[in-house]
Amino acid sequence: MSDFRVTSISRLHAEFSVPGDKSISHRAAILGGLSNGTCHIRNFLPSEDCVNTLRAMQAIGARCEVIEELDGFGPTGLRLTGCSMKPVAPTAPIDCGNSGTGMRLLAGVLAGQVFESELFGDASLSSRPMGRITTPLGTMGAKIETLGEKPGCAPLRIHPAGLHAITYELPVASAQVKSAVLLAGLFADGRTTVIQPAETRDHTERMFAAFRLSLRRDGNAISVYGGQTPEACDFQVPGDISSAAFWLVAAAAMPGSRLLLKDVGLNPTRTAILKVLSRMGAHMIDIVHDSAGEPIGNVEIHGAPLKGTTILESEIPNLIDEIPVIAVAAALAEGKTVIRHAAELRVKETDRITTVVNNLRAMGADVDEFDDGMEITGGNPLRGAELESFGDHRIAMAFAIAGLFAKGETVVRDTACVNTSYPGFSHHLDAVLRERSNPADFTLPTVSRE
Ligand code: S3P
Repeated sequence: MSDFRVTSISRLHAEFSVPGDKSISHRAAILGGLSNGTCHIRNFLPSEDCVNTLRAMQAIGARCEVIEELDGFGPTGLRLTGCSMKPVAPTAPIDCGNSGTGMRLLAGVLAGQVFESELFGDASLSSRPMGRITTPLGTMGAKIETLGEKPGCAPLRIHPAGLHAITYELPVASAQVKSAVLLAGLFADGRTTVIQPAETRDHTERMFAAFRLSLRRDGNAISVYGGQTPEACDFQVPGDISSAAFWLVAAAAMPGSRLLLKDVGLNPTRTAILKVLSRMGAHMIDIVHDSAGEPIGNVEIHGAPLKGTTILESEIPNLIDEIPVIAVAAALAEGKTVIRHAAELRVKETDRITTVVNNLRAMGADVDEFDDGMEITGGNPLRGAELESFGDHRIAMAFAIAGLFAKGETVVRDTACVNTSYPGFSHHLDAVLRERSNPADFTLPTVSRE
């Protein structure tokens, strides 16, 4: 089992880019795989989660040619030829690994087919709630059995069914549920509408537009008509701001540091982390240089002494995946940081309220735990500790960053899980730990097959 061993550093001066966005890569694999031709997808995230979704699309009829790889991980450049909205029956159950996004979005695709299929995942995914998608998909006419030991949990057995359009008010602000219903809507008769209680990441809507699927947005209501076929297109996946967040926090909390992250996704439904770090005192410039469907840009951040902040309820869906590392920033800041209205954290890859609180306390931080969040009083010096990742990629990386500020060595156990979202994280961590400033040290090795 691999571990991270981290000691403190005194400066962070670096320029690099992080791998492709996980949410966007899943959607590129799905829409490209359903499209009517060949799509050239660049900077695909070669993580286990996204590669599983790509394999799932191949299992139902898409064809994929890999043209570039991240050495030792998986495809970053691909030519994906879609099945033109006529998926075929998979010959075996489909493995979604650790990915809630993969399973929920694929369930949306598979719900309205003439064949039976099965989706399964690892132990963490098999304990996450699937009722949030089986309920609306069931209302559309889908027949989905949850076969898990825990009620309402995966594996999912999806029986053949015809779907009809619905209007669905989401009970939780979830981009995965919204996307599952919209994808199912493509296979349903009529106009399917999803109404979200708060804005969630809008990559599905943007990608529908890129693939020339007509979609209507009316405030928080999003509608799509069935019977459309995505038109193949070329697509560049921006760097993942949720992966960038680890380094943004490291630089923000280290006075004197300067970090330039290139070609990061700056979709406004994902950038609350930048607002929060600015509010905490970091100096930041972001420059959007391309806005073809998904805004991409460079973010430059300069460290400063941080102060605590209150995360607004409206910000929570926008930065839900960044909360573990925001909690680390809070422990390094002067004063109190309040994170409430975030009960969704309890049903992520781990219960991220408990895992964050336990690890912060082990490092000497002052934290109170609530049902829906935590309150952190920063300023206690962090001490190195032996920590578990609990098999959760974002916990492993957040506490590697905490270790950069702690007195003594921090060991994070069981860190292979970082490949779920950030293959190459340990290469970047290694370069940072050696306080290198040569950009070549930060470049992830790719292999071209063309
Ligand atoms: C995701 C949506 C978010 C996020 C997850 C990815 C997506 O979950 O936590 O990592 O790609 O749609 P919600 O469905 O809870 O919004």
